[in-house]
Amino acid sequence: MTIKEEVVVRAQAVHAYLEQCLRGRNIPGRLLESMEYSLLAGGKRLRPVLLLNWAELFGLQAELATPFAAGLECIHTYSLIHDDLPAMDDDDLRRGRPSNHKAFDEATAILAGDGLLTEAFTLMFSSPLPAERVLKAAACAAEAAGGSGMVGGQMLDMLYTGKGGASLEELRRMHSMKTGALIKGACTAGAILAGASEEDVSRAEHYGRSVGVAFQIVDDILDVIGDEAELGKPVGSDEEMGKSTYPSLVGLDESKRLAEEYAAEARHCLECYNGPQAEFLKKLADYIVHRIN
Ligand code: IPE
Ligand code: IPE
Ligand code: MG
Ligand code: MG
Ligand code: MG
Repeated sequence: MTIKEEVVVRAQAVHAYLEQCLRGRNIPGRLLESMEYSLLAGGKRLRPVLLLNWAELFGLQAELATPFAAGLECIHTYSLIHDDLPAMDDDDLRRGRPSNHKAFDEATAILAGDGLLTEAFTLMFSSPLPAERVLKAAACAAEAAGGSGMVGGQMLDMLYTGKGGASLEELRRMHSMKTGALIKGACTAGAILAGASEEDVSRAEHYGRSVGVAFQIVDDILDVIGDEAELGKPVGSDEEMGKSTYPSLVGLDESKRLAEEYAAEARHCLECYNGPQAEFLKKLADYIVHRIN
């Protein structure tokens, strides 16, 4: 199996869990429809896949971490719904279908995002694992998603939009917050849920930080050279909105080089581990840099 096929197999198990996780919660029909519209539209499920593999690397059965992993995917999906709103990136296509606010309306899209963010914690707290680990992992997810993580990064993104002039250091900080934080949180939470040692958790954290920045650099690159049908979202949106991105600041070649550098740093964090999970995570770092969607 190629790494992409391996990711797809893993993603299918997460998808199956997501398909039933919001049912029976007494959510008003239109809201449930809107939440599931985006959540079940597809997506690579990269964050849950990372969480499950880091958990397995330290001996945890993937099934036991699946509710938590599904929660992280809910947070990620909410961030995409809000990111596409007219007040933010104003994008009309997501995961190969009209963005949530286009298929429904802005109020519903805002509420679907709010609903997914909140349900995420219900899912995480339903994990069949020792309470102490779940609490620690949920605190880590909350920090990754909040003002010092994803939401903070999105604020910086908006502040830099149309202004230009963000330095490389500012761009790296923005990327590590808006995208890196949740990816890092996925890796760290996986290790925590498995009861890994502090040293192991910090390796997961370092890997996630590096892969997270590489991921957003490649996202920026694909916004320039990617294929809309393959990506399932608009191409050229960053330039149109006047976004500060790696390609706009340092050019495509240097952006690719930097993404490779971050991926190599991520692979380095796995050197002390053996076995299929470590191999998978090393290959995943490369896949993140060479992906086309
Ligand atoms: C897109 O994330 C938004 C970013 C944080 C760059 P993904 O590329 O993981 O989107 P899906 O989940 O596959 O749709
Ligand atoms: C978004 O970055 C990161 C999020 C936290 C959603 P982008 O705005 O570049 O993501 P896409 O390209 O719309 O998926
Ligand atoms: Mg954005
Ligand atoms: Mg966007
Ligand atoms: Mg983008």
